[in-house]
Amino acid sequence: MSEFVVVHHDNGVAVITVQNPPVNALSPGVPEGIFSALSAAERDTSVRALVIIGGGKTFIAGADIKELEAAARDPENAPDLHPLLLRVEDSFKPVVMAIHGTALGGGLELAMAGHYRVASPDALLGAPEANLGIIPGAEGTQRLPRLVGVPVAIDLCVSGRLVKASEALALGLIDRLIEGDLLKGACDFARSVADQMISKTRDRNGRLGEADENQKAFAAGREQASKIRPHQTAPLFAIDAIEAATALPFYEGCKREREIAKQCLASPQAQAMIHLFFAERGVAKVPGLAKDAQPYLIKKVGIIGAGTMGGGIAMACVNAGIPVLLKDTSQDAIDRGLATVRKNYERSVQRGRTPQVVMDQRMSMIHTQLDYAGFDEVDLIIEAAFESMEVKRQLFGDIEKIAKPDCVLATNTSTLDIDAIASVTSRPEMVVGLHFFSPANVMRLVEIVRGIYIGDRTLATALAIAKTLKKIGVVVGNCRGFVGNRMMFPYMREAQFLVEEGAFPEQVDRALTNFGMAMGIFAVDDLGGIDLLYRVRQESRHLDKPGVRKPVVHDRLYETGRWGQKRSAGWYKYDDKMKASLDLVVHELVEKTSAELGIKRREITDEEIVERCIYVMVNEGAKILEEGYASRAADIDVIYTTGYGFPAWRGGPMWYADTIGLKKIYDRISEFEKRFGSDLWAPAPLLKQLAESGSTFAAFDSKVMSIAK
Ligand code: 3HC
Repeated sequence: MSEFVVVHHDNGVAVITVQNPPVNALSPGVPEGIFSALSAAERDTSVRALVIIGGGKTFIAGADIKELEAAARDPENAPDLHPLLLRVEDSFKPVVMAIHGTALGGGLELAMAGHYRVASPDALLGAPEANLGIIPGAEGTQRLPRLVGVPVAIDLCVSGRLVKASEALALGLIDRLIEGDLLKGACDFARSVADQMISKTRDRNGRLGEADENQKAFAAGREQASKIRPHQTAPLFAIDAIEAATALPFYEGCKREREIAKQCLASPQAQAMIHLFFAERGVAKVPGLAKDAQPYLIKKVGIIGAGTMGGGIAMACVNAGIPVLLKDTSQDAIDRGLATVRKNYERSVQRGRTPQVVMDQRMSMIHTQLDYAGFDEVDLIIEAAFESMEVKRQLFGDIEKIAKPDCVLATNTSTLDIDAIASVTSRPEMVVGLHFFSPANVMRLVEIVRGIYIGDRTLATALAIAKTLKKIGVVVGNCRGFVGNRMMFPYMREAQFLVEEGAFPEQVDRALTNFGMAMGIFAVDDLGGIDLLYRVRQESRHLDKPGVRKPVVHDRLYETGRWGQKRSAGWYKYDDKMKASLDLVVHELVEKTSAELGIKRREITDEEIVERCIYVMVNEGAKILEEGYASRAADIDVIYTTGYGFPAWRGGPMWYADTIGLKKIYDRISEFEKRFGSDLWAPAPLLKQLAESGSTFAAFDSKVMSIAK
């Protein structure tokens, strides 16, 4: 019998338990194990029905993505689940799939080949393949519409969203919810259907719909894909495959699906997104962090500052079930902060995402106050006050007198020196940077800033709290701007230079969004607040090297009061719905500035915009890597795709650089160095070295990963 499958019998039911921890992925050997267990059960005359269930915390979470990663380079040899699916569906004894945890991708596809599906109420089901740049390639696009209908199948494949068991029941994806003991319930259910006629999913054509209606659904699906996954090919391919399900007999449809799936798997998009899947999980493996470092348990959090960041962090905490004390210095600030939190929840209630009772419960978990009462009991204090070293050092001096000894002290600074903040306390080993991104209740990224004094338990706590808040915590070093903003500075600088040299903000932004950035850099600046970036720059003016070119237009905008969306005017002008449009006043300002600087404006191509903006980031990323402020190029990719709107389908800036070829990037940067000077464009030595040796950032990472293991 297979090492991945255990079989036992329960009063006429053969129970096949899949055991491939941690998520029971369909790794080599697992499909074969299920296949032979099924065949044996069919032969066994004492068996009337079968149950397939996952061992441990979940059903089957999908194909083995490691296997898919390898198959992306050799799609002809992609894993083929067809023999197993056929074996399940053709079983002459009913096969009941018992689902808990998650049934995802290939796991759901296997489940759909069963004759019945039952699930625990907390189970989640879905086809998240689009997140990996691929389509459900194990007949999922053929069986899913047969169970749930064409529009729902399209929605699930395009969005990749997971549905709870109750919704799955309503959709027809499962047949019954089992409260309590899933295995017992599944066996009872299996016995109840043991002697009934078996219905195969592939024969259930009743929900495949009519041509007219389907055409509308395909068009709506393509529209949805262009909105929620712009530039991505996989969701469109999934719709093509579902279209095949409606137009072709089952086996022909499966054949078509396999062709499309192979094409998808071999695409650069799939390779980039699979890279990110592992990169997002790799960030938890922190080089130099003791494996046995025990995180402190965080049961209550104190937050200082009820502004946008503080309020968002408070929401993230209470959403994860952690009560919060939210302090600010004036009742007015508290009222404003709490009103924003309430408005955010109300919007979510109106959209049907959060029930009113849940909102009420979460609001009641945020206790606002003007003093530090109760801060001596919290396990973590997050300072989210004004971005000023003076303010932060003062605050840390205050809170360390109040906080209990094992309370972790975090600052949400986005640019300031953590060590300088930590050193005002008598316990700098307890201090960490937790750089959340706005809106903090939504954005997945948290940069965890590891200063020189930090203790392992503090770092482990930061990683653990990020996970609890359902965020991705990436450990970064303590340099100016950490990783994300440090790369953002030259990116923003080049964007502005381009404007001073001849482009306009909307052209730069359009070139960047066409490249795939979620937002143009100037739109981002308007959203964040031009005054904010101005203040950040003021804090670091003393670091500017004399004689080196600096962008100027931003200061002009600040000086004329165009502070971005908050003033309905920045790089763009805004209507009352915050819809941006170009502003000729800005054009005039830009042209005037170019003239003042003695720059003769010229035609700028979109190609130059993308190269200068993106390559400058890559170059800075390479410097960050060699200076050790990020452990892996993949960490930088995760930071940029989860926090800065870099397109996941390009894999992040460093992965993208690998796909272009580091030699080409290096040559281009060297040209820019000649044109614009070494202070701005000197190639990073690591980039030079990798380019000259024909290597990649991925190869650089594989060495780091072998150390981190
Ligand atoms: N294949 C290989 N490894 C997987 C995996 C998979 N499908 N799913 C998870 N893992 C690994 C992770 O890499 C991680 O490994 P590590 O500990 O060495 O870093 C470990 O399992 C635990 O994963 P998480 O940290 O993500 O665990 P969580 O408990 O937070 O989440 C989960 C569990 C929700 C199942 C999440 O892992 C997940 O979403 N997995 C991917 C699901 C998926 O995309 N399935 C579809 C695959 S594609 C497919 O099936 C194609 C088909 O159409 C043929």
